[in-house]
Amino acid sequence: MSQFAVILPAAGSSSRFKLQPRKKPFVEIAGRAVWLRAADPFLNHPRVAQMIVVISPSDHEWFREHYAPHLAFHNIDVALGGAERADSVGNALALLRPGIDHVAVHDAARPVLTVEWVNRVFDAAERDGAALLATPITSTIKRGGADGKVVETVPRAGLWAAQTPQVFRRSVLEEAYARRGNLQPTDEASLVESLGQPVTLVEGSPLNIKITADEDLRFAELALQALPPAVSSRPLHPFADET
Ligand code: CTP
Ligand code: MG
Repeated sequence: MSQFAVILPAAGSSSRFKLQPRKKPFVEIAGRAVWLRAADPFLNHPRVAQMIVVISPSDHEWFREHYAPHLAFHNIDVALGGAERADSVGNALALLRPGIDHVAVHDAARPVLTVEWVNRVFDAAERDGAALLATPITSTIKRGGADGKVVETVPRAGLWAAQTPQVFRRSVLEEAYARRGNLQPTDEASLVESLGQPVTLVEGSPLNIKITADEDLRFAELALQALPPAVSSRPLHPFADET
């Protein structure tokens, strides 16, 4: 069986999220921190052998202290974040343990994820080497100009909105990072695409939202309630009811 590592980048500055003094991965939804909800479907997952959370140097001491029981119980590693998201993920790659052969990257700011969607994208990555969750675009897409007027309507056929988890054979992601140069992509798949490596789109759910601005927190709360009742987002463990 493949051994997966999961990297949770949580080292951004949450500059578009102004609702609370805390950064978005550390606010709570229904009594549990956003980053823990993002981690839940991977904790105790039979294929996950390592979890690495990426934290900015300014949050590091507070984070280690505040979440010490969770970090210890689940044996979670902590990497230090960099200036851009790709720098943060790159720092985490340096901590991968021997024996890990697949790597998943999942935004710490995406707290509504199920084990079923994780299994779907894990299976595709094992089969094809690179895969991500995504949803087909359903809106009509306009390109806007600096004057606030429509420049054109972009045909939406074949357009997908990329989500995370994005999952790769370890050697594929490491090669993409080795050849990264000065690129600052907003996701890992685009680096892998630039190698010419095919990346498989796995249809996920619009419920898997990323918290970006304030109102997304309320959307995420509702999305959590909208998950199918039979779907568990996390296995039971001793900290199940703690934050
Ligand atoms: N991230 C990171 N390191 C960075 C930038 C982003 O680990 N240097 C993480 C964020 O913490 C988040 C995920 O990448 O979990 C997605 O990024 P985004 O939604 O853009 O979060 P922020 O960069 O924190 O927010 P903003 O762009 O509004 O400042
Ligand atoms: Mg950002």
